[in-house]
Amino acid sequence: MASRRRQTGDCGGEPAGGDIRAERLRRLPAYLFEELASIRRAREAEGGTVIDLSIGDPDLGAPQVAVEALARYAADPRLHRYSPHSAIEAFSQAACEWMKERYGVDLDPSCELYPVIGTKEGIALLPLATMDPGDLALVPDPGYPVYSRGVSFAGGKVEWMPLEEQHGFLPETGLIEKHRPRLVYLNYPNNPTSAVASEDFYRTAVNAAGRTGSYIVSDAAYSEVAFGGYDAPSILQVQGARERAVEFHSFSKTFSMAGWRVGFVAGNRRMVASLRTLKSNVDSGVFGAVLMAAATVLREGWDAHREMIEEYGVRRAMIFDGLRACGISYHQSPATLYVWARVPGSMGSMEFARKLLEEAGILVTPGLGFGQRGEGYFRISITCPTDEVETAGRRLHEISRAWKGSETWTR
Ligand SMILES: Cc1ncc(COP(=O)(O)O)c(C=O)c1O
Repeated sequence: MASRRRQTGDCGGEPAGGDIRAERLRRLPAYLFEELASIRRAREAEGGTVIDLSIGDPDLGAPQVAVEALARYAADPRLHRYSPHSAIEAFSQAACEWMKERYGVDLDPSCELYPVIGTKEGIALLPLATMDPGDLALVPDPGYPVYSRGVSFAGGKVEWMPLEEQHGFLPETGLIEKHRPRLVYLNYPNNPTSAVASEDFYRTAVNAAGRTGSYIVSDAAYSEVAFGGYDAPSILQVQGARERAVEFHSFSKTFSMAGWRVGFVAGNRRMVASLRTLKSNVDSGVFGAVLMAAATVLREGWDAHREMIEEYGVRRAMIFDGLRACGISYHQSPATLYVWARVPGSMGSMEFARKLLEEAGILVTPGLGFGQRGEGYFRISITCPTDEVETAGRRLHEISRAWKGSETWTR
């Protein structure tokens, strides 16, 4: 039997001396995907291939202007010190200019916008900066798991907001008035459902938050991953939003710069200031050369961005065609790196993902991984090379033909 290669952080087995994890870690939900990971390892150990359509990790590489700017700025020793104020200022200025040009939103770079070490970091830390133990947050289900983790690490309570297909995967804003939470998480264009929200939806949410004294955390990580001329709105375009909301923007998906760890938070100045204070006690900011290169790409990276979107568009079309050929229904969306599809027949999402991996060598994310209301769905990510996406579409079609007459499909 082939021995399994160990990965960093994987020492194998339980360390001696018992479980020293804090209660907040012990409370984390069990890792759902170990079974899929082990099937994958076994398949690969036997020489089989796996096409990984499970994670949203852009593969196209950062724009050349960003890479060249990083090399240039990295050669400047003044930027080797703790993130210098001049770099933070230059970055914030460029980001504010972009928010103005893209959304018509005027922000003060000194207090209404601040860089984060990737939006995951900012999103995870914001509850520690703005919630007291026992405070309530409304969190989408299905949703990006970091929202509930951040709230629970801060001692807050999570109330789930169902995202249902018949409502376009938008939450009921009446829940804000019902629960009067401290924070409300919105994420459009949405991961995992790929749904989008209108400015009208944001207006209703901001008005509800205004009536209840709640604050909205709008995660716009996928705002620039859009197709067919779709332009995602910003919550900050809505009147009164700056009193009630912040929005997170990420370079990871917009410019395929996930490993660079850079993004920003913008909007309500008290929330921005709270996060900034918390961060000043926890981290020392983004590398100055990365901030400067990110400012450059915001001004000069849009041709490269257009090419990335074209490539993603080709992949999306392949997945859509493949799913249609199999008779699998999916959410028709103009945005994100994901396709949110219905598990065929009456299989659970884990069972479907396991069969797809075992029998077709395709790894997708079971909807259950994003929350209870993700059950019945699976998520396909288009961040893997186009030829592999094409092969996946073909394999999916073949396997569906094999399954169709069987119980698997019709049960
Ligand atoms: C909805 C959503 N928000 C935020 C992030 C984090 O992005 P980053 O930390 O790379 O900016 C992700 C990453 O997958 C995401 O899916």
